[in-house]
Amino acid sequence: MAPAAAGRAAATGAPLLEARPTAPAMVSSALAQARAWIASSLPLWLGAAGFLCGALLLLRARGGRLRDGGPGAGRGPVGGRQARQPGAHEGGTPRPHKGPGERGPRLPVVAYWDAQGGQVDRAPEDGPLPNVILTCPLSHLERLFNLVVAEHGAQGDVLQCWRFAPPSATTSKVRLMGLRCADPDSVVDRLAQDGRLSWVLQKLYRVGDRERPQPSLEAAAARLAVQLDEARASVRGAAASEVSPLRVRLSCFPASSTDPLLGALETAVPQPPGGGGIELVPTRQEVVAAAVQVCKGVWLTGVSASGALAEHMASRRGTGDAVSRAYFKLAEALQAAGPAAAACLAGGAALDAGAAPGSWTQLMLEKGCQRVYAVDPCQLRPEVAVAEGVEHMQTTLRDAVGVLAERQKSGQAPLLDVCVSDMKLPALSSVVRVVAEAGVFQLLRPGALVVLTVKGEAVKGNSQKRLCTDAAFPAAKELQAHCDGVQVLHLMANRELERTIIGFCKKRK
Ligand SMILES: C[S@@+](CC[C@H](N)C(=O)[O-])C[C@H]1O[C@@H](n2cnc3c(N)ncnc32)[C@H](O)[C@@H]1O
Repeated sequence: MAPAAAGRAAATGAPLLEARPTAPAMVSSALAQARAWIASSLPLWLGAAGFLCGALLLLRARGGRLRDGGPGAGRGPVGGRQARQPGAHEGGTPRPHKGPGERGPRLPVVAYWDAQGGQVDRAPEDGPLPNVILTCPLSHLERLFNLVVAEHGAQGDVLQCWRFAPPSATTSKVRLMGLRCADPDSVVDRLAQDGRLSWVLQKLYRVGDRERPQPSLEAAAARLAVQLDEARASVRGAAASEVSPLRVRLSCFPASSTDPLLGALETAVPQPPGGGGIELVPTRQEVVAAAVQVCKGVWLTGVSASGALAEHMASRRGTGDAVSRAYFKLAEALQAAGPAAAACLAGGAALDAGAAPGSWTQLMLEKGCQRVYAVDPCQLRPEVAVAEGVEHMQTTLRDAVGVLAERQKSGQAPLLDVCVSDMKLPALSSVVRVVAEAGVFQLLRPGALVVLTVKGEAVKGNSQKRLCTDAAFPAAKELQAHCDGVQVLHLMANRELERTIIGFCKKRK
């Protein structure tokens, strides 16, 4: 053996001397071994070949379905992606797709501009125009898009769905979506009344059926001037139209184009010496003039009577019978938590930390809670405060927990089935720590549902994005000390810097 090989063998602990077979003997023994191995593993080979054929057939079938127009059948970068469910889970189990049957929505989805503002597909003037335009925060665009595709597209109400990012979008945090709807008015109404979207939908435009895209800002201003002239007659009537200027509020997207648009409007709208013309006002307007740049150099414009807009915004801001918009946050979280959460609520006892004005308490009663301890130093809305089963503990969480612990000891209060908290705490304090240090987990039965809002705050020197991740994931980790099945959710009803964490109380050892 060569010294180097001997060194290696010594180092690996192998014997230094070994019997080496001759070359012909090695060949024939190797062939015999191979024959025996092939014979013994023949059934395995046949099985593997069968499996491969099956997999290939399955892949071919899937490929055909995507080309057919399944969720991934759109064009551009969107086409390659699987439509995700609304109400994205971060670190949680993905929810099953809710589209019709196995195929999911057949809605064509198109993105015109990528994140850098580069064009990735044709512009709207070449094809059907959107007849509804939405603006929403960038943080929610993907999920809003998926919600519209999954819910409205699957119903056949929305025929086409675009994501637009105008060239200025790299600096703007607001993005656009365009919808081509079979019945746009009914889609607008349904979107406007969807409580989950009451925060996320910033603007909802219904594009007039006769509108054509305008190829420049100047063309958009000229078209707006004509529309304003038409609106003057319909708002004022012919007699009053020339006397005083029409009071107009301008809504421009992107907002950075407002000043150039104003300049172009001044040129486009005649200001007669004897009165008339237009006056731009921030409030108490007669009409709202809107100009939206849907992609590079392509504008859509429109004018609507302010009453119509106010009514519309009122219905959008309105939350039906819900005491506040927070109602929809808990509703979404409960949906994500599934049947185990519903079982905790039905007939259960709950603690609502930071309850005022009372929509979470209201929802828990609706879901069947028998008793809700609504803890908040602030007032509850009267209808919640007097509702059967509600006890308003008008104090801080720590004091209320002390009272409840005493009552549990003396058998005057049950172990709790649910704890929810939407408390607004001082910046950067951990809601899990506040809840744990107050002694809440000692009041809960094993398996009890826990829903906590983690409110990120923009702090000087910290990027908002970092702060949000900083706040939610450590909080979820802290919650894992007390709960199983912890999930971090970014709900449609959560603001950009807000997350909801949920879990089920661990069994005590
Ligand atoms: C966003 S509001 C809650 C809204 C409520 N979830 C609803 O649905 O109407 C936050 C509340 O937390 C309350 N809060 C803050 N710190 C608290 C504490 N330590 N104990 C109890 N309530 C607290 C505030 O008084 C405030 O009313």
